[in-house]
Amino acid sequence: MKVVAFGGSNSAASINKKLATYTTSFFKEHSIEILDLNEYEMPLFSVDKLAKNGLPQLALDFAKKIDESDLLIISLAENNGAYTVAFKNIFDWISVIQGRKAFWGNKHTFIMATSPGSRGGASVLNLAKTTLPFYGANVIDTFSLPSFYENFNDEKGIVNAVHFTELQSKIEKIKTDFLK
Ligand SMILES: Cc1cc2nc3c(=O)[nH]c(=O)nc-3n(C[C@H](O)[C@H](O)[C@H](O)COP(=O)(O)O)c2cc1C
Repeated sequence: MKVVAFGGSNSAASINKKLATYTTSFFKEHSIEILDLNEYEMPLFSVDKLAKNGLPQLALDFAKKIDESDLLIISLAENNGAYTVAFKNIFDWISVIQGRKAFWGNKHTFIMATSPGSRGGASVLNLAKTTLPFYGANVIDTFSLPSFYENFNDEKGIVNAVHFTELQSKIEKIKTDFLK
């Protein structure tokens, strides 16, 4: 089974990429690929650019990564209550690929979010949870890590017992239900 993970951010020090990467460490028995949104930087989406230049190859490349996965692990950064521009730009470009059944390819998707604040990206997590299913994501669970810098250590991962246990039990359920 293939697990594809990414943080919904183009920050070099992205805490969401760290959380997504850490989460893949629970899936060692599976094949893991971690994507970096910086490698999929495309022009700012516009219907005029689409009409003039067609689809960027990178949109097709990213869609292929999704299609090759059995499980997507996405940790979304929250900017002003919503997706980062980096994530939304990829989302919009992929959404106009002709003949594609659904943006998220009906993939099992574990959506997470973290932020330095106590809400842990609750707004973007709620946005994704309520709307991504309309675009073909099979959202199988969600997880929010609040106050990232208090609850996460670069060497140890999640150091808060309550949050660690919550993530661990969600992952066990995902493995049992979807990655047999
Ligand atoms: C333009 C901007 C808007 C932000 N808006 C929010 C927000 O609405 N809610 C929030 O919890 N954090 C917000 N933050 C703080 C981010 O959660 C923080 O920068 C976090 O590190 C982003 O995740 P990343 O490190 O994975 O990029 C914002 C940061 C920036 C730069």
